[in-house]
Amino acid sequence: MLRPARFPQGFVWGSATSAYQVEGAPQADGKTPSIWDRFAHTPGKVVDGSTGDVACDQYHRYPEDIVLMRELGLRAYRFSLSWPRVIPDADGAVNAAGLAHYDRLVDALLEAGIAPYPTLFHWDLPAWMQDAGGWADRSIIGRFGEYADAVVRRLGDRIGTWLVLNEPHILTWLGHETGAHAPGLADRELALRVGHVVNLAHAEGVRAVRAAAPEALVGSAWNMESAYPATDDPTDAAAAERHHARVNAWFLDPLVKGAYPEAYLDMDAALAAMDVRPGDMDAMRTSFDLIGINMYSRAVIAHDAADPISGLRRLPGSGPRTSIGWEVWPGSLHRIIRRVDADYGHPAILVTENGCSDPTGPGPDGLVHDDDRTRYLEEHLGQVARALDDGADVRGYFAWSLLDNFEWAEGYRQRFGIVWVDFEGDLRRVAKDSARRLAGIIAGAPLEYDDTLA
Ligand code: FCB
Repeated sequence: MLRPARFPQGFVWGSATSAYQVEGAPQADGKTPSIWDRFAHTPGKVVDGSTGDVACDQYHRYPEDIVLMRELGLRAYRFSLSWPRVIPDADGAVNAAGLAHYDRLVDALLEAGIAPYPTLFHWDLPAWMQDAGGWADRSIIGRFGEYADAVVRRLGDRIGTWLVLNEPHILTWLGHETGAHAPGLADRELALRVGHVVNLAHAEGVRAVRAAAPEALVGSAWNMESAYPATDDPTDAAAAERHHARVNAWFLDPLVKGAYPEAYLDMDAALAAMDVRPGDMDAMRTSFDLIGINMYSRAVIAHDAADPISGLRRLPGSGPRTSIGWEVWPGSLHRIIRRVDADYGHPAILVTENGCSDPTGPGPDGLVHDDDRTRYLEEHLGQVARALDDGADVRGYFAWSLLDNFEWAEGYRQRFGIVWVDFEGDLRRVAKDSARRLAGIIAGAPLEYDDTLA
């Protein structure tokens, strides 16, 4: 049945980006390279051979982007800080000029009536930290805490909500197991160890933020997708649960529940490979005020004994696909919100990322008729409204992304922006139809949702 979508008073309407994907200015004001500067400059790593050297040049053009956000009625901006701008070298000294940039950005947002939602880490690890072992070395736990402390002390008087990490699962898995992302390591055992250190550092980051800004809300942004068993067979259902545990809960449960979830067929072997030391599980115990969900698609999962560790296989789903190849399945968003609501004691939830790639550029009329993205946003926002009607405490929605930008290993070929950017020319911005539709919904235009979607 179709029902009217309603969003509560005070619902946070935002858009999101991350530092390396939009800033450019890789050497400005004392910044040193991150692992993404290095990775993108390594031939063969990014499909179109591009880098984030210029990207959207938001480092210099943020005033223009803030005007755009304001015109669209967006009330929040989720951006990330670049760690090597703030702490450029292994000596740990804080770079005042790097921090000053974010200070200006935050002030300009506030002046425009847009709430800043900073993410402390969105994948651009300082190269010096990688040289010291990166996420595989426990020294990163203290280093991350020091970085968080420096940032929060400087900006904390103006920030209501901090997001600590972006997608710990993706940075661990793509960075260390498949090697598709920086630092480009492909070693499954290493990835298991890294995931554990990421969890320890994550908890340390939360502690540092709380110590420096006791009044602020603290959350993070986890990549999540609903896992759908391929058939009614109980072995497929069990495999889908393991997938849920490995992707959605592995980087959350140990921090808030004190234990790793049952994600592998042989949990003892997995835990043994992870180098869990006495005191670790206590050290990573923490709490969050908000759970941020980044959701793009779903996972269809079958049991598969050929993989003795996970015992599962991912199958292609039956839904339509976007240009990046991800299946469109709006019910996955409703379902994952309900699951998080049930499993973590009715927490406050933010949809910290949701969106799709759609290559549509300006037509002869100069406008961007990105109908596929408009439909995607309508359907997914509808499912957020459905979860709200079901009683979930969803506080806001951030469209990924404000701008077309550097989509990691896909370079500039995949456009996720609600605003088009002229990468071939002068980087001019053009608000797409999807941005206008979102602006309309924010302003109260009617939207309906289907309450029967699986
Ligand atoms: C997420 C990332 C974000 C962007 C989108 C498409 O996994 O957090 O930076 O790449 O996917």
